[in-house]
Amino acid sequence: MNEASLYSKYSGLQKTDAKFVVDNYLRLVKWKSHEKILDVGSGDGDVLLEILLPGLPPDFHRLVGTDVSDDMVRHARNKCKHSKVDFVPLDIATSSIPPEFYEYFDHIFSFYCLHWVPEQRRAMKNMFDMLTPGGDMLLAFLASNPIYDIYENMAKSNKWAPYMHNVKKYISPYHHSEHPENELEDILKKEGFVSHLCRVEDRTYTFPSFQILSKSVAAVNPFIKKLPDDEVDNYIQDYVKEVRKLESITVETCNNNDNEEKVHVPYKLFVVFASKVV
Ligand SMILES: C[S@@+](CC[C@H](N)C(=O)[O-])C[C@H]1O[C@@H](n2cnc3c(N)ncnc32)[C@H](O)[C@@H]1O
Repeated sequence: MNEASLYSKYSGLQKTDAKFVVDNYLRLVKWKSHEKILDVGSGDGDVLLEILLPGLPPDFHRLVGTDVSDDMVRHARNKCKHSKVDFVPLDIATSSIPPEFYEYFDHIFSFYCLHWVPEQRRAMKNMFDMLTPGGDMLLAFLASNPIYDIYENMAKSNKWAPYMHNVKKYISPYHHSEHPENELEDILKKEGFVSHLCRVEDRTYTFPSFQILSKSVAAVNPFIKKLPDDEVDNYIQDYVKEVRKLESITVETCNNNDNEEKVHVPYKLFVVFASKVV
């Protein structure tokens, strides 16, 4: 991930999907009083504070946002004024969770984080270990997205290959799966969860212009920070050329003065609800 402030401005897609998941699936969670809640990969904190928090019962005990990036944690802490909410650094794929979090949380949420984690079994195990017996988790993350095809194509080009040699690490582990739900359900089961819902939603996001698409790419593209400064614009231009080449992405020209182009990107989003049954 790149700068927290850039992500904050250009995360319309992620916020739209977090709202979709909260509006449609938060009802699955059965609340009790004074519960402890974890958000994994809370990033800049906007989704936690603006979309998740308003959906929680007001008498919750504590809401913790965690993220692997110190910059994101700092950014989220700076904007948070809520006395029952705090943000702490944590890699969800860590080999040892903090002992104070062992069987501590009644509910775990995670929005748009887990496709960044190649160690899926470790992440699921850690979430299992952090849940109280009887606790549950609601997750949303990418199963596949054409942006991963673009990463793969660009990583093959002579020009960009030197900066993208570890491209596989940044592609959703399910991007090439024929049956992503089955694969994920299998992992959940192996780690001890009972899966109540493991669905792939077909979604489409419309970027209002190529300019916004470029900024949104710059906000999350993991390779940009490895480029020399004077190559960043070139990289983004090549990225946009790749977007135009992909058949799955459609471009719609608007009849306004600027003939602006809207970009429709289809992708697949996992929505998972699972519990740690005692
Ligand atoms: C696309 S942002 C999503 C942020 C927020 N949940 C949202 O929906 O806007 C993904 C976040 O996951 C974090 N992340 C990536 N790998 C992680 C890991 N192994 N453990 C914890 N957080 C991770 C990144 O630092 C980033 O802040």
